[in-house]
Amino acid sequence: MRLSKLAVALTSLFVFAGAVAIRQQSDGELEPPAPWQVTKLSTFSPSGRPGSSPLARILANVTNPSAIPAGPGASSPSFAPSEANCTVEWAWADAQPYGAVHECTTAPPAEASSSKWTVEILESDPGAYAPTEKLDVKFTLTLTSSSDRDGEAYSKVLVATQHFEVGDNMRGTCGGSGVCSWGLNEELTPLSIQPTIACEGTC
Ligand SMILES: *[C@@H]1O[C@H](CO)[C@@H](O)[C@H](O)[C@H]1NC(C)=O
Ligand SMILES: *[C@@H]1O[C@H](CO)[C@@H](O)[C@H](O)[C@H]1NC(C)=O
Repeated sequence: MRLSKLAVALTSLFVFAGAVAIRQQSDGELEPPAPWQVTKLSTFSPSGRPGSSPLARILANVTNPSAIPAGPGASSPSFAPSEANCTVEWAWADAQPYGAVHECTTAPPAEASSSKWTVEILESDPGAYAPTEKLDVKFTLTLTSSSDRDGEAYSKVLVATQHFEVGDNMRGTCGGSGVCSWGLNEELTPLSIQPTIACEGTC
């Protein structure tokens, strides 16, 4: 009788210790990823005059300056920092840039590393503003580890969306010809944005 009571006590002690260990590990995983930096954001809209380019453009450069753990646990390898130059172009007079995912130029190059950046322009205030003057920019960083011995790759998808608006965090000018150029205010550059983990494991 005595012995089995002791056994029960010991068992629950181990269960308790195990629960603490699991909680500590998931606490570490739940820590938000380190901020990214938008090092440039600019937009351009054309004049629409015959003979000039009909394309509007949004340029965005983003950097993840921190290593990101590739898996759970402190001993896991990590994904290296990376940066990207992103360009979105569309026919100003007859299209919208919204809802399309564009691959960015990533450094280190996508073939050599596990990092891939994309950008998507989201409509911020439907119908009311030009996409070059008021917009939400969604950056997605997809990290993929090389397959392990079992052929399993480990992925992590991080996402951050930032609002940009002329008169708020953007300024610029329109020329007499009708072209307009706007950009993230210099004193706000680089702009820190907070990513969240959208998926991890097999994404
Ligand atoms: C972005 O463009 C700048 C200037 O052209 C270049 O120095 C940098 O390496 C580029 N970065 C990427 C990720 O392509
Ligand atoms: C941003 O990327 C563009 C190319 O898309 C490049 O010309 C420019 O130099 C880059 N700027 C910074 C600050 O990285």
